Amino acid sequence: MKREVTKAIFPVAGMGTRFLPATKSVPKEIMTLVDRPLIQYAIDEARAAGIKEFIFVTSRGKGALEDYFDHAPQLEQELRRKGKSELLETLQSTNMDSGAIAYIRQHKALGLGHAVWCARRLIADEPFAVILPDDVIAAEKPCLQQMVEAYAETGGNMVAAMEVAPDKASSYGVLDVSDDMGSMVKVRGMVEKPKAEEAPSNLAVIGRYILSPSVLSSLSSMEAGAGGEIQLTDAIASEIGSENGVYGYRFRGQRFDCGSKSGFLQATVAFGLQREELRDDLSDYLHDIVNMGKAAE
Ligand code: UTP
Repeated sequence: MKREVTKAIFPVAGMGTRFLPATKSVPKEIMTLVDRPLIQYAIDEARAAGIKEFIFVTSRGKGALEDYFDHAPQLEQELRRKGKSELLETLQSTNMDSGAIAYIRQHKALGLGHAVWCARRLIADEPFAVILPDDVIAAEKPCLQQMVEAYAETGGNMVAAMEVAPDKASSYGVLDVSDDMGSMVKVRGMVEKPKAEEAPSNLAVIGRYILSPSVLSSLSSMEAGAGGEIQLTDAIASEIGSENGVYGYRFRGQRFDCGSKSGFLQATVAFGLQREELRDDLSDYLHDIVNMGKAAE
């Protein structure tokens, strides 16, 4: 089986209700951390991992996302005329080659598994990555790149895994581990959103996957699972025990849940502090408000 991963699916058809009213007209993936939309972080990570084909599963109202990846000749011309070469470079780095992006519609929000399945004809018979742009990962080596390197050794199916507190397990898919090899674990079971007392481990699945095409066949025959949605976790779990197998990969990096307001705010602060031009002002401000809070106690 081929182990080079060159295609990635970005499921972005969700309604983003946790960010209403903003998401009434702005796709969640276009919301910005500092000055870059969430989707740009995901695309950069995919490019670093060697992805060449970018498949977006979209829905009604996501037009801004398509526009974002279009070239902007007028704007570029204006920046060139004004000699703003740095801004021009920033803008050009967001351009995508013709034919590199495909958009598929998910006509009904039937769940993440269904969204991935919608892209089946573009994947055909190759391993592929799935990136959820809500999960933004700050890492020295981008998370998907770490996974692609590990996958070159193992093949099979791989999910990014992160340790979570027991009371948080019910928000994730959780791994049942048969063999712990450090950064990699062999998976013997997966449970979607278990009750705290029923979680088989503290290893939760987050939004990066490398999957074999047989997962798409499983999705084809899938019934709705937890929450009435077609769950990707269930289709991946059906690969356990097959010759492909399922691995969890403990990535190195910090993950922010930008699908939640609290995670989004934390990511904004973290990425703001990484910027040299913002660091001093922002950290002074953070010190001030923390000290003010302490003084008020
Ligand atoms: P979420 O569970 O975060 O749902 O989806 P959501 O609709 O985006 O946000 P909330 O919960 O209403 O605030 C996780 C990922 O799966 C995609 C979403 O776009 C997001 O990237 N998804 C989910 C789909 O593409 N289709 C679906 O039917 C469901």
